[in-house]
Amino acid sequence: MPLALLLLGCDPFPEKTDVPNLSADCVGDIEIPLGLLQGESMPADAHEETYGSSPTPFAVHQGFPSRDPSVSRSFLWQTDVGTLASSLVIGPADTFPTGATTYEGGSFLFGTAQLNVGDYRQHEVRVCVGLLPNTTYTYRVGGEGGWSDEATFTTPGAPGTFDSFRVAMFGDSRGDVDTWTQVIAAVDAAAPDLMITSGDMVELGASQIEWDNWFAASGDVMARRPLAITHGNHEFLAQGYFAQVGMPGNEEWYALDWGPLHLVALNDTVRDQTQLSSDQVQFMRAEYQAATADWRWVVHHQPAYSTCTTHGSFEALREYWAPVWEESNVDLVVAGHNHIYERSVPILAGAEAEGGVTYVVTGGAGAPLYENSQADWFGLVANPINHYVIADFSTDRVDFVAYDLAGNVIDSFSLSH
Ligand SMILES: [Fe+2]
Repeated sequence: MPLALLLLGCDPFPEKTDVPNLSADCVGDIEIPLGLLQGESMPADAHEETYGSSPTPFAVHQGFPSRDPSVSRSFLWQTDVGTLASSLVIGPADTFPTGATTYEGGSFLFGTAQLNVGDYRQHEVRVCVGLLPNTTYTYRVGGEGGWSDEATFTTPGAPGTFDSFRVAMFGDSRGDVDTWTQVIAAVDAAAPDLMITSGDMVELGASQIEWDNWFAASGDVMARRPLAITHGNHEFLAQGYFAQVGMPGNEEWYALDWGPLHLVALNDTVRDQTQLSSDQVQFMRAEYQAATADWRWVVHHQPAYSTCTTHGSFEALREYWAPVWEESNVDLVVAGHNHIYERSVPILAGAEAEGGVTYVVTGGAGAPLYENSQADWFGLVANPINHYVIADFSTDRVDFVAYDLAGNVIDSFSLSH
């Protein structure tokens, strides 16, 4: 049975749909798909002024309830299981809390690998169309029995209305919270507008202690800076992933429009092969028929091109997905899985070609590094090092710099149109 969460922040509730649409994919019900490692689902609870033993929110983070982050945002957090208050108070930062709006969402219980459904309570409030572009907001979540700290963020301009902004990319933080702490602190210091992870946030997606440690190590960064999340094989399609992640659509594959960037996130750890060969291909084709953004990026987890021999390349994706990327003029494909920094030559039809797709692997945010790479025709840079990547968009170009955790530049390149 899917778990439906009634979200009172959205009024009216549009039907869930696969058709790309700026408003219709901000749905009123969340469906928590059956994962591979989970117990039975339990009914969702609407907001109620009920407080348990530890009502103060923790693991507060933002999500994307629709493809348009200029007017929408999700807010997610945990409390003890007895707290049913799911309120969001949000308003312009310069007058907060005067002029703020209160939205009420919902919450649900979820379980872990130990199948203890009901161990954890996740809250979520979605603001589907209630925000203004280019506006700095302050918010807090929870209720009178326990509020979170206030956090501030700024919405981007409407899609297509600006050129310059900063993206940070990283992946594979699993297994080493100390390194992850350093990565997210360095990323935060770089002040990105948008963060993107290539997946494998945790070692075992069904282990809540790992998620809790991951969020705790992130401090308040996730409350202030939105993260576009990719499902990795270590998330295991676990209920905890779907419970805590607030991405558009089915939360496995989705699109996001941020200024000049059209970002497609894909899932390469699937329930059956047709999700690779058909479902996500159709999703991408529909996206690219409708997309008008200047820049087209894809993020997924297991790289189609990698010189790292630990996991190698996921060559089936060269058959299923690369042709769509090439015919759709995708500029950049970001992956992780191999714990290394890598960059390819531009590739078209299985060969180096000017104007082709550039492939980056960013898998160095904490998981054990993979030292073993083997030179191949497509590999330009390979460096097994903890790192993150900063991308600065400006008119007609994007400048990329990959940094190690000492702040040294380990690679830099530009893409231009
Ligand atoms: Fe992985």
